[in-house]
Order: sequence, then structure tokens, then C-alpha cells
Amino acid sequence: MKFFLDTANTDDIRKYAALGLVDGVTTNPTLISREGRDFETVVKEITTIVDGPVSAEVTATKAEEMIEQAREVSKWAKNIVVKIPMTEEGLKAVSVVSKEGIKTNVTLIFSVAQGLLAAKAGATFISPFLGRLDDIGGDGVGLIQDLRTVLDNYGFKTEIIAASVRGVQHVEEVALAGSDIATIPAGVFGKLFKHPLTDKGLDSFMKDWAEFQASQKN
Ligand code: E4P
Repeated sequence: MKFFLDTANTDDIRKYAALGLVDGVTTNPTLISREGRDFETVVKEITTIVDGPVSAEVTATKAEEMIEQAREVSKWAKNIVVKIPMTEEGLKAVSVVSKEGIKTNVTLIFSVAQGLLAAKAGATFISPFLGRLDDIGGDGVGLIQDLRTVLDNYGFKTEIIAASVRGVQHVEEVALAGSDIATIPAGVFGKLFKHPLTDKGLDSFMKDWAEFQASQKN
């Protein structure tokens, strides 16, 4: 499974990219606004840090304007993916720009029907939002499982990005469910490394080693 970082913070992206563990980045208007910097500047900077796909979202709601924005944003770098919301207008835009070779990520997917439509429209990626679905009593991981089945049934090349990931357990569960990608907030990414027994085990190895070294000197 590929790991994307779900952030527009270039310090966090640099930190985890340096470990060789970041396959791509997703942003959205909320994440960009948190950085307090110009959209184009931030996105272009991210595309220089990671070689993999970097999603940048359109802000128009009408298909024609989305298409114009998608054409413009896709020129910013070779690894740009244009994020387009899951609306009728959005899918109209995806149908047009995907035929022009522009890579798209259809965002705000909450049902199998929406995922299937986006794949049929030619989306490169679809982003089902797990956490937000769980919040209203839905089954985020179940949605990933069902989308995996449907895309495989019909041989779609569209890749699933498990989005709105809230914790380590989500990452583990979507890996088991066969998601192609998990897009992970930096705070959750940092927790993937951790287990209390790892820390405890390492402490005891270090202590035993120090005692052994000291005993060798006597
Ligand atoms: C996906 O690409 C979105 O940026 C993101 O996962 C949204 O998640 P949230 O529910 O944490 O805002």
C-alpha cells in the first residue's frame, strides 16, 4: 500500500519524505488555508519535495470553470493531480479533462455508487472519506472493502485513496481491505512508528548491553 501525506505543511512533508516513506501528498482548500500562504506557491513547493502525485483541489463549482482550473493547475508540475469534488458538475469536468490526460482525484466520496460513477468518468484516483463517514455512524472501512470489490469486478484502473484517516487503526484496516493508498495526516503518520513494547524492549536491550559492557571492563 502506498502512503500519501494529507497535509499542505511543507515542514512535515520534508520530515517524512526524508525517510523515503512518502509516495504522494493530498491537499484540500482547508489544509491550504491553514498554511496562510499562496495556493500556487505552496503546491509548487510540495511538488519539488515529493516525486509522486500531489493533489491540488479546484475551487470552482461549475464544470466549465473546474475544467479551466484543472487545465491551469495541471501545468504547475508534472506530478500534479487535480482534485475535483464528487458532484454532477465535478464528474462532467472529470470526463473532459481525463480525456486530455490530466490526472484527477475525485474527492468527498461517501458511497459505492459515487465511487463507481467517478471511476466510470475516468478518475485516476477516488477518495472515500472514512473518518467523516464513521462520524455519522457509517462504516468507513466497509466502504473501502466494497469499493475494492466493485473496481476489481469491472477491471477499473482507478486507485482508491483512503482519506479522512483518523488513526493508526484506520491505516491498518484499509491495508487489510486492499486500499491502494492511505492518505495520512502528519500527526497520525508519526504514530505509525510507535508501539509501547518496542520502547520497553529497546530500553531493556540498552540497559542489559550497558551492564554487559561495564562487566567486561572489570
Ligand atoms: C483527503 O484528501 C482530504 O484532504 C482529507 O482526508 C480530509 O479529511 P478530514 O476529514 O480529516 O478533513
